[in-house]
Amino acid sequence: MNNQDLTKDEIKDLYDTYFYETFKRFDFIAKKGHDAYIVDENGREYLDFMAGIAVNSAGHCNPKVVNAIQEQCKKLMHASNYFYTEPQAKLAKLICDSIGMEKIYFQNSGAEANEVMIKLARKYGKDNFGENRYKIVTARNSFHGRTLGTLAATGQPDTPIQHNYDPLVPGFVYADFNDVESFANACDEDTIAIMVEPVQGEGGVIPATKEFLQGLRKLCDERNMLLLFDEVQTGWGRTGYLMAYMGYGVKPDCVSMAKAMGGGMPIGAMCTSAKLALTFGPGAHGSTFAGNPVACAASYAQIEEIIDSKLSDNSMAKGIYLRDKLKNLPKVKQVRGKGLMIGVEFTEDIATDIKYKAAEEGLLITAVRPAVIRLVPPLNVSTEECDQAYNILEDVVNNI
Ligand SMILES: Cc1ncc(COP(=O)(O)O)c(C=O)c1O
Repeated sequence: MNNQDLTKDEIKDLYDTYFYETFKRFDFIAKKGHDAYIVDENGREYLDFMAGIAVNSAGHCNPKVVNAIQEQCKKLMHASNYFYTEPQAKLAKLICDSIGMEKIYFQNSGAEANEVMIKLARKYGKDNFGENRYKIVTARNSFHGRTLGTLAATGQPDTPIQHNYDPLVPGFVYADFNDVESFANACDEDTIAIMVEPVQGEGGVIPATKEFLQGLRKLCDERNMLLLFDEVQTGWGRTGYLMAYMGYGVKPDCVSMAKAMGGGMPIGAMCTSAKLALTFGPGAHGSTFAGNPVACAASYAQIEEIIDSKLSDNSMAKGIYLRDKLKNLPKVKQVRGKGLMIGVEFTEDIATDIKYKAAEEGLLITAVRPAVIRLVPPLNVSTEECDQAYNILEDVVNNI
């Protein structure tokens, strides 16, 4: 293979030959990205309202993030967690200070961030209340990741996420989302934590009610349990606040994050109070790559950009604007979400059709349920781009 660009067919052939088929891909090559656009092999621009699955919140290849990566690559790309490094130190302070947390544990992805959150809860339970105190109640229809631990936490039995990976990691019990009583009934003396997404993302973009999260907080306080929020998708401005819990006014004991925090680099983290962090001592958990200096430098630039350019506010304003417009689409049953995390439910199972037809027309979105599409554009998206996305969707749905 030479250094020349491969053609689309050559690339697709290599995928056909060498790849596991766990993803159905769009029929073009993602060559480049800028702002809210992905550019294909022919130079065609697609308006990207999936943003790398809610990752590119400050736009594709944001110049500040690119510059931070380039500068850090010249200095140190990897050392491991046996060393102090400046990017980790700076990022830890920026994150903890801006979301009212005290300690951070870096990871490489959302699933890993949740995995360490689950391990922390278990160890805290056993250390403080005895061997049997390890159960965690999660929500039906949730999504927490694909590792063995997080897929067991994911409340979706009988889906490909869990199917044939049994025996599942024990200790997870499911309850109904937005139903405090269901959670209360699912907890017993062995329960150490409740874990939820403030807005269920993969489950169809379903926001928690304020009463639900407040009710869970009260329940956890009354029964000496930890409240764990999975903010892998909702974090860093997506819902109109830096963290969704800041908008709800309900503080968890532990929050996980990933996706948007890296601006495209793989990084995740969990944050807690200093007291809870005492649960882990040397050797309790570890990772070769977690908190990698390049990923941390990128994350610092990305989060600084989200804060300095007030992208949470833009997310809030454009979210209200877009949700209002989307209600006018044909065949709409419900438009829901918070900020620029938007789900549109249709009266028929047409989400996958809409997704591929919209791509043909130059708009990228995801289908999260048979009747639900999800829109998670970059948080610096403009009103004109929102209008453009709406017009494409209107045309597409009209012709289905
Ligand atoms: C709420 C939530 N948690 C966890 C994950 C898993 O994150 P990752 O794919 O980075 O492992 C996702 C991914 O979509 C998610 O939406």
